[in-house]
Amino acid sequence: MNYLAIKHLHITAAVLSILFFVLRAYWSVAGSPKLQARFVRIAPHVIDTVLLVCGIILAVMIGPEQPWILAKLIGVVLYIVIGTIAIKRGKTPGARAVAAVAAVLVFFYIVGIAINHNWLSWFA
Ligand code: HEM
Repeated sequence: MNYLAIKHLHITAAVLSILFFVLRAYWSVAGSPKLQARFVRIAPHVIDTVLLVCGIILAVMIGPEQPWILAKLIGVVLYIVIGTIAIKRGKTPGARAVAAVAAVLVFFYIVGIAINHNWLSWFA
């Protein structure tokens, strides 16, 4: 697969990831049983794995020794960790809602890093 195809897959996975996350976070805060559906529990792992693996392949192809790529890696770990608080580890609906907003902010910080090739993201 060429670079552009992998980049396209990476961006598609990123869009699916945030859409799915917002939906699951909403269900989590609302206490909806839809969160327990088999597809809803498995699909995000598949999508996030595609996102991460494609990102790493792209990084290897263009040379990974760039600060903005490290910043994206740290960002994606934060997105996933804060995301698990929003979806399951947060004890109250309020705590899960705060974590959900924080995870979305981290996600858009990462998009800014991707576009500007700079860890300062939208502030570069
Ligand atoms: C939530 C996580 C992520 C999001 C939302 C995201 C988003 C994006 C977007 C929107 C682009 C296209 C940028 C452009 O066309 O200007 C991109 C490209 C790229 N991403 Fe990610 N990414 C994420 C995670 C990662 C990770 C973890 C890595 C590497 C370890 C990575 C490495 C790359 C590389 C190398 C490119 C290609 C840059 C280029 O060709 O201009 N991404 N990403």
